[in-house]
Amino acid sequence: MIIAIDGPAASGKGTLARRLAQHYGLPHLDTGLLYRAVAASLIGAGRDLHDVEAATSAARGLGMEEFDEARLRGREMGEAASIVAAMPAVRAALIAAQQRFAQRPQGAVLDGRDIGTVICPEADVKIFVTASAETRAQRRALELAARGEKADYATILADIARRDARDSERADAPLKPAADAVRLDTTAMNIETAFAESLRIVEARRR
Ligand code: DC
Repeated sequence: MIIAIDGPAASGKGTLARRLAQHYGLPHLDTGLLYRAVAASLIGAGRDLHDVEAATSAARGLGMEEFDEARLRGREMGEAASIVAAMPAVRAALIAAQQRFAQRPQGAVLDGRDIGTVICPEADVKIFVTASAETRAQRRALELAARGEKADYATILADIARRDARDSERADAPLKPAADAVRLDTTAMNIETAFAESLRIVEARRR
């Protein structure tokens, strides 16, 4: 079974994908980490984030397993990832590895922006997770505080609005629900309710 989870920044899709993967015993790929790793590689090499050639070559050289999550999950890396993710050549360089991951014999859970539309259009279950920008900013503020990273709510809300715009308005594989995706608005849900709801969606699709 392939489960595709898409949605905007801080919608809770990553947590839901991880929980679903645990529940069904499936491997999980957080595809945002790939774009974050490309951005981190440019920053580490002192290259401009808009350098398409350097970004494409970083994407081509990326391994699928060695992610330094503590570094990649920071606030600035999300913003930087969204810049390199708008480059068609970077996206093209990352497609095959994501599709190979999804084709594992037992199936997989992948989360990102274009899983249901581009990476796994044939996925058995597609969920598009949303939440209001304000709710997402509150969740992200709590998450960053737990990591010891300082950022105020207004800055995070502005980050989220900018990232939503960039991820949705780019020409190549923009953030949008697949025609056959089930929408899950988690604005008024805690994680347990959202997880129960996502399980219900998966089970309904399986039947
Ligand atoms: O899910 P995330 O916040 O870790 O993603 C970081 C950025 O990477 C996001 O702003 C856009 C990009 N991304 C993408 O374009 N396609 C994906 N499948 C996953 C992430």
